[in-house]
Amino acid sequence: MTMDISDASRTTTQTVTDYDRAKEVQAFDDTKAGVKGLVDAGIVNIPRIFIRPPEELVEELTSHQTNSQVPVIDLDGVRGNKLEEIVDQVRAAAETWGFFQVVNHGIPLNVLEEIIEGIRKFNEQDVELKKEFYTRDRARNVRFNSNFDLHYSRTANWRDTLTISALASTDLDPNEYPEVCRDAVREYIKNVTKLGETLFELLSLALGLKAEHLQEIGCPKEYTLPCHYYPSCPQPDLTLGATGHSDPSFLTILLQDQIGGLQVFHDNQWVGVQPIVGGLVVNIGDFLEVVSNDKFKSVNHRVVAGHVGPRVSVACFFMGHNAEIPKSYGPIKELTSEENPPIYRDFLPSECFSKRFSMAVDDNSLLHQLKL
Ligand code: OGA
Ligand code: NI
Repeated sequence: MTMDISDASRTTTQTVTDYDRAKEVQAFDDTKAGVKGLVDAGIVNIPRIFIRPPEELVEELTSHQTNSQVPVIDLDGVRGNKLEEIVDQVRAAAETWGFFQVVNHGIPLNVLEEIIEGIRKFNEQDVELKKEFYTRDRARNVRFNSNFDLHYSRTANWRDTLTISALASTDLDPNEYPEVCRDAVREYIKNVTKLGETLFELLSLALGLKAEHLQEIGCPKEYTLPCHYYPSCPQPDLTLGATGHSDPSFLTILLQDQIGGLQVFHDNQWVGVQPIVGGLVVNIGDFLEVVSNDKFKSVNHRVVAGHVGPRVSVACFFMGHNAEIPKSYGPIKELTSEENPPIYRDFLPSECFSKRFSMAVDDNSLLHQLKL
């Protein structure tokens, strides 16, 4: 018998705590001021809802000193004589690391700097202005909250997030955006969704499909843009900025500032993703692992908390046909055969995304649930 995952994670939460966690979580949520509100109040000891359980705390937080680094791919020449070479690099990275960084991707440096600055300003403005956006209603295109899974996770993360979701082909009403970051966010979305199309072409070719394949099945159709703010943390060894997880998306493009803290699980150890000025991190999401029938890997990653902060990052999740025009996906026919039968069932992105939002993020069972 299969158990409802959201119920399973709730049970875990109940058995590991000997205090009224739900009540303390609710009180924190009710402040609508997020983790930044705790830091502004001058707390020295972090509240226990953020403290990881003892068996997790014994685990090493620092990433291992290793010579291996997430591959860096130079996109210069992608429309010319470098295409084949770039496709080979994308294939190698997607099959092994599930992660790579791109440089010379065509998004101007000032567009990257301005959204980072805009998100910092949004979080550091008058708390009353921020509260107007505080909600857990996923039907809202623009929403601010601390920890999307606050009420389900075992441990809360040291992070606040402003999220924007929409169809890539239609502009939201400019008035829906917070004023302090409106122009910067709109400009970044225009650029990052275009880069997404280029990356889906490269990934299609890397899978041995025609360049338009992933675009034609709608991979870049809808996006969700979580813009994260990780305040400096007085006790960074006790908590995490983001618990280990893989992304419920086809592909994620991540912009991070220069502080660092993102780690990828590779070869049985956590490896830090070194920030590159002007670079962007790209990772394969769960949905692409499914449609590629496991050729490409959706890999676990996390963010450690730090004394130095705030750290700002902006993720762009490409969701395929999700909320607006739902469509089901499964392993691509051209990629399966008698010797290589489909190993996943068909799924709806909206179904997976809802599950992810109603279960603890460290319950990394989304892909397992889809296994035939
Ligand atoms: C995410 C994520 C990493 C970061 O939003 O899914 O993994 O560096 N973010 O903020
Ligand atoms: Ni992620």
